[in-house]
Amino acid sequence: MKPTILVTQQLPESVSAFLNAHCECRYWTPNDNSSIEEALKDVDGVMVSGMPVTEKTLSKADQLKVVSTISVGYNHLDLEAMKAKGVVGTHTPEVLDDTVADLVMALMLGTARRIAALDSYVKSGNWQPTDVETLFGLDVHHKKLGIIGMGRIGRKIVQRAKAGFDMSVVYHNRHRDEDAEKAWGIAYASMTALLSESDFVILMVPLTESTYGMMDAAAFKQMKKTAVFINASRGQTVDEAALFDAVNTGGIWGAGLDVFCHEPINTDSPLLKHPRILTVPHIGSATEETRTRMAMAAAESLVAVLSGKEAPYLIPE
Ligand code: DGY
Repeated sequence: MKPTILVTQQLPESVSAFLNAHCECRYWTPNDNSSIEEALKDVDGVMVSGMPVTEKTLSKADQLKVVSTISVGYNHLDLEAMKAKGVVGTHTPEVLDDTVADLVMALMLGTARRIAALDSYVKSGNWQPTDVETLFGLDVHHKKLGIIGMGRIGRKIVQRAKAGFDMSVVYHNRHRDEDAEKAWGIAYASMTALLSESDFVILMVPLTESTYGMMDAAAFKQMKKTAVFINASRGQTVDEAALFDAVNTGGIWGAGLDVFCHEPINTDSPLLKHPRILTVPHIGSATEETRTRMAMAAAESLVAVLSGKEAPYLIPE
């Protein structure tokens, strides 16, 4: 008999076909009349994306064996509550690394070269050859890049920054990665050194108790006035009021943000009003190809767990 699973978001056709071949699929969205607790009551697995899975969510999920999230980050899953229920988690690392690294480069270039402001300027119909100077940006090439968090995506950013833009790169991480240092010609730096010396600071850490709010007023104060801050990890790693203050008072030059403390961000947020803060709506991995690969990776892991096989992407305990 096929296991029963709950799908909580739209999937590409190829992924739905794969799941249908291996499972009885039920579908649920937050707009349904039934609660998620009820919907999880008698299913073996669930596919989620950013949906929080809490102790309450799992309160009736006595048959559940696996939560498979279509994301590399899993801070929306309460791993303790899952463990207490004997539920394992799977996620989707690797398949998105290049795509997220591309977006980070886009944020870096877009912020430094003021692409969004220039686009609005051209489209306003008021292009005057004499006043474009107010929209001059900063060079990216040959600058110093500091990456906080040297995981798989960090390494992909290094490749791009070094090969494409001749940047020098320093990194800070919980563990020193001497292989990466040798292979890519990058140097380990303390947080203080990285923040005070880098022209571009990229935050690429998972959200944990120790990274929560790590970019606070004190951290921004250590950065150069000409520096640009990029965040494509999780919004809660940054004190948004301190970031706005840093850009607004000239403490740093600008910021490029893919992620926010609350998503969708409140339209009243001052972050959305500042001309040197570039924002995109948490789309680091969101290309058609990569989102399809992520959904398939999540589906394959889910099916592997339910068939008693080794899942390729189990969330570490
Ligand atoms: C992830 O997979 O965690 C990314 O944030 C999604 O873009």
